[in-house]
Formats: sequence, structure tokens, C-alpha cells
Amino acid sequence: MKVIATLAELQSSLTPLKTSGLKIALVPTMGALHQGHLSLIAEAQKLADIVVCSIFVNPTQFTDPKDLEKYPRPLAHDIKMLTEAGCNFVFMPSVKEMYPSYPTPEQWKIDLGEAEFVLEGEFRKGHYQGVTQIVFKLFDAVKPDVAMFGQKDFQQVLMIKNMVKELGLDVQIAVCPIIREVDGLAMSSRNIHLSQSDREHALVLSRALFYIDANYDRLELDQLLEEAEAMINTVPGVELDYLTIANGDTLLPVEQKTKQDTVVLVAAKVGQTRLIDNVIIN
Ligand code: PAJ
Repeated sequence: MKVIATLAELQSSLTPLKTSGLKIALVPTMGALHQGHLSLIAEAQKLADIVVCSIFVNPTQFTDPKDLEKYPRPLAHDIKMLTEAGCNFVFMPSVKEMYPSYPTPEQWKIDLGEAEFVLEGEFRKGHYQGVTQIVFKLFDAVKPDVAMFGQKDFQQVLMIKNMVKELGLDVQIAVCPIIREVDGLAMSSRNIHLSQSDREHALVLSRALFYIDANYDRLELDQLLEEAEAMINTVPGVELDYLTIANGDTLLPVEQKTKQDTVVLVAAKVGQTRLIDNVIIN
């Protein structure tokens, strides 16, 4: 696997491969890789000839400077995991490489639709402008045929699809299912911040989602939410930001029970760590 730090080197490595007709997949990440990320690499290998993984802790998508500062960066470990997974290139640029005028903000504001401002968008103002800004730069640098994203960040996938539509980008977006620990906790780079008791408390989030999914046919919407919220609220150290049964396109709460395009999304602080998870109803 080749490790690349600059845009110039990325271009000179990828251009000949593209000219020879090889299909390129991009897997954008912020590192601290786990099996969830590796599932994206594996899927990318099925869809393309060459897999490029990017590792970049993107400052413009963080709304809390402390969160940015403490974001885990186990680079040697990440490189080892990607090498073992058979990834072809890892692109690990510096902040200056991606944002030459940093910390002076660059102009970036695109229309991502109303769904930008709900759920994560409400709790992390401007987050999806930062996400789409860096994903656009990565698309522009790699010019992938296909880019891989996880359903774990459900709203992020929607925002990226909206950006692709809004800007008319020529890239396929592939979405991969959520990879979980055996007990149900959704894998996340932030899980390493959980203390042993946080780790146990965090389980209530996936349990609440599974509860709603399992009882969807039996109970009314209000009842499902009430009972799942009660489950979460009885667990110490878990502070719920939102739990919603929403339409998968608008992310607005569904008013009537339907199984079409319906997703249950949750976000909560567990101890000091903010976690998100979701389950698609079908
Ligand atoms: P990061 O949190 O590192 O996630 C990188 C990709 O891995 C995302 O598409 C995310 O949805 C996916 N992922 C994370 N946990 C997963 C899990 N348990 N199962 C399946 N997929 C999972 O998301 C970001 O980075 C950034 O916002 C980024 C898109 C790289 C832009 O900076």
C-alpha cells in the first residue's frame, strides 16, 4: 500500500491508473479505523479495481474544538489495518494541504436541503457544510468512480447525496450497513473514549432502536417512542439529544406508521462521549 500526503503525489499516482481504464473507489475516513471502516474497504474492493482510503480529521466539520483536539489519531495502527485489508493507497494530507489558508475559513456554502438543519444539523450547527466541503475536495482530488459511506451516519449519506445532486457530480455513492459489536453497540471511533461503565450504558441506544424495530407492527408511534425513551432515561449517565422515527428523505418525524423509507435515529451523550445510531424499518 502506498502512503500519500500531497495532492500532487495523489494525482501523479492515480492518473496513469485511470488512463489505463481502472475503476477507482474512494473510502473517506477520519481514521481510528475499526471493522466498520474495513467493511467499506471490502465493499469498495468488490466495486472497483483500485481502493483509495483517505484519513483526514477534518477541522471544518467539528463544532466543538475540544472534540477536534481529542479525536483519536492512531496512524501507525490505521496504516497496518489498511495494509492487511489490501487497500491500495492511503491519502493522509495535512490540514494545510487541504485548506491552504487555514485557519482563515474558505468560502463554502451549498444548498443541502432542509434536512441539513434537523437532528445532527441542529445539535452541530454547520457540521454538514464542513462534511460536504471536505468530501467535495476529496472527490475533486481522487475523482473516484464510486465513493463508499456507512449507514451509521445516516444523515451524512443523505447530505452527500444531496451535494452530488446539487453540484451535478459524476460519482456513484455506495452505502454500507452498520457494523456492530456482538452486543449491538454500533462501532465508532469515539467508542474508545467510553469508560467501562459508559460502555455498558451505551448499549441502551441500540437496544432502544431494536425495541422499536421489533415492536413496530404492534405498538403506536407515540407508544414506541415513549417506551424506548423511558428505557434510555433510566440508564445513568445517558443524556438523550433525540430519538425519532423519521422519513428517510426529509428526516422529519413520520406522522403515520409506514414502513416505506422509515428510519429510527438516536443521538445521546454517554458520559462525555456523544454517540449516534440508527435502524432502518423494513
Ligand atoms: P468517519 O467517522 O471516520 O467514518 C468514515 C466512514 O465510515 C463513514 O462513511 C461512516 O459512516 C463509516 N462508518 C463509521 N462507523 C461505521 C460502522 N459501525 N459501520 C459501517 N460504517 C461505519 O464520517 C466521517 O468519518 C467523516 O465525516 C468523513 C465522511 C470522512 C468526512 O470527513
